[in-house]
Amino acid sequence: MRRVNVAGLLIVAGLVVVVALAACGSSPTQVPPAPTAPASPPTLAPTAAPALDGATLLETRCSVCHSADRPKNARLTKDQWEQTVALMITKGAQLTDAEKSVLVEYLAKTYGP
Ligand code: HEC
Repeated sequence: MRRVNVAGLLIVAGLVVVVALAACGSSPTQVPPAPTAPASPPTLAPTAAPALDGATLLETRCSVCHSADRPKNARLTKDQWEQTVALMITKGAQLTDAEKSVLVEYLAKTYGP
């Protein structure tokens, strides 16, 4: 009949517990980052309401014939944006006078020289 080394088993079991505890307790740096930023609202669809926001006007009205990257890659003064937008309107861009001035303001501020 084989004798079981009880003391040895206890030591092994103790080590397993210590290792397990160490594995659980030694991870203060692995705390997952708190979810601070709330998920962005699913839609900001500018549906029926007139889009009187420069960025939105640029994305929606100036990407019809060419990509909105075209104006975004330009660096123009306010006068030049005025002329460019006026030119785009002669080509067919859909902008009311109010939208035009909001957009020109935004373009000059954001994509100035
Ligand atoms: C109806 C079609 C159309 C729309 C809408 C339109 N564009 Fe253009 N756009 C053009 C065409 C065509 C050209 C190329 C003109 C050329 O190269 O002579 C152009 C060229 C440009 C250029 C380059 C000009 C240059 O000298 O290289 C800029 C900047 C520009 N568009 C800005 C805008 C902005 C800002 C809007 C929004 C208000 C807009 N476009 C909307 C047709 C359009």
